[in-house]
Amino acid sequence: MSQTKDIISVITADITTLQVDAIVNAANSSLLGGGGVDGAIHRAAGPQLLEECRKLNGCPTGQAKTTKGYKLPAKWVIHTVGPVWHGGGQNERELLAAAYRNSMEQAIQVEARTVAFPAISTGVYRFPKEEAAKIAVGTVLEFIEQHPVFDGVVFACFSEESAQLHRSALAEQA
Ligand code: APR
Repeated sequence: MSQTKDIISVITADITTLQVDAIVNAANSSLLGGGGVDGAIHRAAGPQLLEECRKLNGCPTGQAKTTKGYKLPAKWVIHTVGPVWHGGGQNERELLAAAYRNSMEQAIQVEARTVAFPAISTGVYRFPKEEAAKIAVGTVLEFIEQHPVFDGVVFACFSEESAQLHRSALAEQA
């Protein structure tokens, strides 16, 4: 059995290109698309993704819902809604952790063994990047320890800076 920390990897990549069972989308509560990684995933998946999303009736912050991946290499898209950063006094940290945890729960539901995450909430939603990376890595490490059913979890960062923050968080916590 590989060590939990060996299951986690950090790369700099466009998440829409990854050949994993499931990619996680940093969506908004409407689930009807947007910019950033949300826009990239919808563009790559094609219009059927939005058609399926329309039937989901949105998603509360911190929760996650799963659709098919359509034209993406990934079989599934796990749509989660991270918190908008308002300074830290509105339970943002717990909501970000919940977004990672509930995304992993969704992965178990669809028996996804490999999952890729973007750096949820660290773009438009302005969550401080270093703290977000620590929450992301800590939450995923804890989840994998409690649910040893994953072959790989990838933090697909969109910049070397973001990747470095996730690598440092992993080195500290694993
Ligand atoms: N692959 C991987 N990561 C990406 C990609 C991509 N193709 N495109 C952007 N990112 C990164 C950003 O650089 C950032 O680090 O995803 C992270 C999350 O940023 P956003 O996409 O802005 O998401 P978020 O901060 O969670 O804000 C969500 O933005 O796009 C809208 O509809 C979305 O309203 C929602 C809000």
